[in-house]
Amino acid sequence: MSETDQRRSVVTAGTDVVPVGELPPLGRVPSHMHAQVVRQDRYGDPAEAFRPEVVPTPEIGPHEVLIAVMAAGINYNNVWAARGYPVDQVAVRQKRGEPEDFHIGGSDASGIVYAVGSDVTGIEVGQHVITHPGWWDAQDPWVREGRDPMIANSARIYGYDTNYGSFGQFTRVQAHQVLPKAEHLTWAEAAAPTLVGTTAYRMLHGWAGNTVEKDDVVLIWGGSGGLGTQASQLARLAGAVPVAVVSDAERGAYAEKYGAAGWIDRRRFSHWGIPPLVDDKAGQREWTAGARAFGKRVWEIVGSRRDPALVFEHPGAATIPTSIFVCRPGGMVVICAGTTGYDAMVDLRYHWTRQKRLQGSHGTNDAQAIAYNDLVRSGKIDPVLGRTVAFGEIGAAHATMGRGEDVFGNVSALVGAASPDAGRA
Ligand SMILES: NC(=O)c1ccc[n+]([C@@H]2O[C@H](COP(=O)([O-])OP(=O)(O)OC[C@H]3O[C@@H](n4cnc5c(N)ncnc54)[C@H](OP(=O)(O)O)[C@@H]3O)[C@@H](O)[C@H]2O)c1
Repeated sequence: MSETDQRRSVVTAGTDVVPVGELPPLGRVPSHMHAQVVRQDRYGDPAEAFRPEVVPTPEIGPHEVLIAVMAAGINYNNVWAARGYPVDQVAVRQKRGEPEDFHIGGSDASGIVYAVGSDVTGIEVGQHVITHPGWWDAQDPWVREGRDPMIANSARIYGYDTNYGSFGQFTRVQAHQVLPKAEHLTWAEAAAPTLVGTTAYRMLHGWAGNTVEKDDVVLIWGGSGGLGTQASQLARLAGAVPVAVVSDAERGAYAEKYGAAGWIDRRRFSHWGIPPLVDDKAGQREWTAGARAFGKRVWEIVGSRRDPALVFEHPGAATIPTSIFVCRPGGMVVICAGTTGYDAMVDLRYHWTRQKRLQGSHGTNDAQAIAYNDLVRSGKIDPVLGRTVAFGEIGAAHATMGRGEDVFGNVSALVGAASPDAGRA
């Protein structure tokens, strides 16, 4: 640890900071708090970028809520934030006029309301809640016109684009992000699924003309992962047939446990990435043979020659050509990330003649988050908590995720909760 880091991690003498795993009396907000903090001079490997520090507890505005975080969900977005790539979040926020020279990430929280802003109604100190990640400016003209706020210019992902996410003892959220916690879940379970679950809900239910319907085949990349296990469950609930893509049998079995009708081992194929260009006839033939064989595996699992009405995309560059190839005419490839790269290729000939749709999707609006959370609260959707880590392991857990080694469901970190079993009513 550098000398500067040592200074930053020293508990400021005289502050009323409470140890991690404990809570101050209900409603008493300490001036300082522990947090896992990312700074620009540490950008890179998340294991190094995150450091525990004591920082001032954030103040809240009239429409905001302060939550004592009991557990925080770990998501891939803060792997990117820790790397400072592709976006330097600290620099972006400073450019907007925010004073902090650090990033406290964390886009999923379960916790207890400790303070509410002067204009907040319907939320009270002491309530057990979770947060959804959709954040926007209520005064944004787009939002004021009543349009989908997650498409507004001001739309952000809480705890990635915004500061004071759930990797601190207190998190600051807009009041509309606050939803009731499922009583049957522990704090760790409740913190696990909302970012990926609401994202999956919007991808499958949010795009009119191509929303998931009964008997639709839905191809789901990363079927054992955070997004994938939520997508399979949601597709099943809609009466559709989810087909998972994974990279080994153990992950395939995990995907089936959460609703997949079957799984495809992507390691059996090699036609990934940018296909040979149109004039390379031999190369195109070879590529098409690979993509066709992949499509046949979908038919084998489904039991008939039905192509996916929806393809649930997030790997991006490596898989987009295949996703578009196997998608049925009039179907939709819906994408929320480009984990393997951003330079994807679309063969436009087939795209227009077969009238397929490539739809971007990001985050969630309130209605989608409420609908998703109601499914969790009613026990119809499992949060798929793969493992729980300690507050001090938040950086290491992001590093593991960034290496592609966290492949079973979601990960939560304990913050105020004293044990993984705490929080069930
Ligand atoms: N825009 C949004 O609102 C939003 C919301 C949530 C997440 N995301 C993004 O979505 C991505 C996935 O998130 P996650 O939480 O599901 O991550 P995750 O749990 O780590 O799962 C990622 C999955 O991708 C698969 N994968 C890895 N390399 C691949 C490749 N070359 N080709 C095909 N599949 C590959 C892996 O499965 P196999 O190796 O078994 O195939 C793995 O299960 C991240 O980039 C995240 O930031 C975006």
